[in-house]
Amino acid sequence: MADSPLIDRHRAVLPSWLAVYYQDPIEIVHGHGRRVTDSNGKTYLDFFAGILTNALGYDVAEVSDAVRKQLDSGILHTSTLYLIRSQVELAEKIARLSKIPDAKVFFTNSGTEANETALMLATQFRRSHQVLAIRNSYHGRAFATVGITGNRGWAASALSPVKVSYVHGGYRYRSPFGHLSDADYIKACTEDLVDVLQTSTSGDVACMIAEPIQGVGGFAVPPDGLYASFAEVLAEHGILFISDEVQTGWGRTGQSFWGIEAHGVVPDMMTFAKGLGNGLAIGGVVARGDVMDSLGANSISTFGGNPVSTVGAGAVLDYLTDHDLQANAETLGAELLAGLRAVAENHPIVGDVRGKGLMVGVELVKPGGKSPHPEAAAAVLEETRAHGLLVGKGGLHNNVIRLAPPMTLTAEELSEALGILADAIAAVDAREGQ
Ligand SMILES: Cc1ncc(COP(=O)(O)O)c(C=O)c1O
Repeated sequence: MADSPLIDRHRAVLPSWLAVYYQDPIEIVHGHGRRVTDSNGKTYLDFFAGILTNALGYDVAEVSDAVRKQLDSGILHTSTLYLIRSQVELAEKIARLSKIPDAKVFFTNSGTEANETALMLATQFRRSHQVLAIRNSYHGRAFATVGITGNRGWAASALSPVKVSYVHGGYRYRSPFGHLSDADYIKACTEDLVDVLQTSTSGDVACMIAEPIQGVGGFAVPPDGLYASFAEVLAEHGILFISDEVQTGWGRTGQSFWGIEAHGVVPDMMTFAKGLGNGLAIGGVVARGDVMDSLGANSISTFGGNPVSTVGAGAVLDYLTDHDLQANAETLGAELLAGLRAVAENHPIVGDVRGKGLMVGVELVKPGGKSPHPEAAAAVLEETRAHGLLVGKGGLHNNVIRLAPPMTLTAEELSEALGILADAIAAVDAREGQ
């Protein structure tokens, strides 16, 4: 068995629903900067960053040194029964950056756990298990988070501790309101929210949870201001607003440090994970102090906020802010978007190019209409891989190419990637109708 190909061993002992990319999957064994090398010695420019997690890229001395120093102390874990200096310091930084008044932070090990915590807080605070979520959302893999995931491809179970009602708005390209102007789209979605509150809930809803840009949903971007309009309605009813910043946080969207800031909204809670640890397992919730403190029982995450991940995450956060990677994401993201829009003009398989900062989606369609084209997306993945570029895939129909390189990306790397992407899209487009 040990000398069988790794993919065969993977399939024999890991779940069938744990999908891997590529007909011939890759084992990444080395990384530096924005490049990774596989076990066959082939090097790739990485434009998916371990699903937006390697926010700084690979082999970052400041992070490795901080983690190594912690390992050298002999302490990998103590538990939250004892004081953890790096946890307190990281919480202080995140609370300040959140702009949430009297903010408090609870650390978890993943985005799922962060959202489970936010739902627990909101439902206890409001004494209601009714939740509003956005169609085409993804918030995680546990029962409550699957319960608020509006995407059939990721809805493994209908069992749920929360009663969820879905509203329109996150995914404009295929929305029944998609043809409207920004202002009219926001109006139509807000009217839908009011209608949902009146027809699908008993009024005393706990919270709305939303991704400012839908990640798994294909980097779908609603018009700025949508969530401000929603927040006005929510405030009338005392409904809490949770922004899921697992993909959009830490300046990735360029325009702002948190995705939700583009809407001019300070939410009651934000959840985060992925990029903060640059690969270390860390997530969390930052919430209004009164909401955070509303649990009437003990709650603990054994590994949440452990010394290794909080020391590492502290170094990541300092690096992000000291190097103003948000500004880099804004500048290079605008170039990426413009470059891809130029490519799209010549290729009818590209239905939509959208995004903000270094979070850009390319939705592929059957030429001549808007029918989703997942086969073309799979083909673009193979083509780009063959030419040394790793990209992601997603969307409700699995037909969206997702581009989210480390935020330390350089202009040279961007033009290299754009060249490979343009060639890959052209090659796949040329096969249409053959
Ligand atoms: C927006 C969003 N929320 C939550 C999660 C769940 O995070 P995790 O996989 O760390 O549990 C994800 C993961 O992709 C996500 O994209």
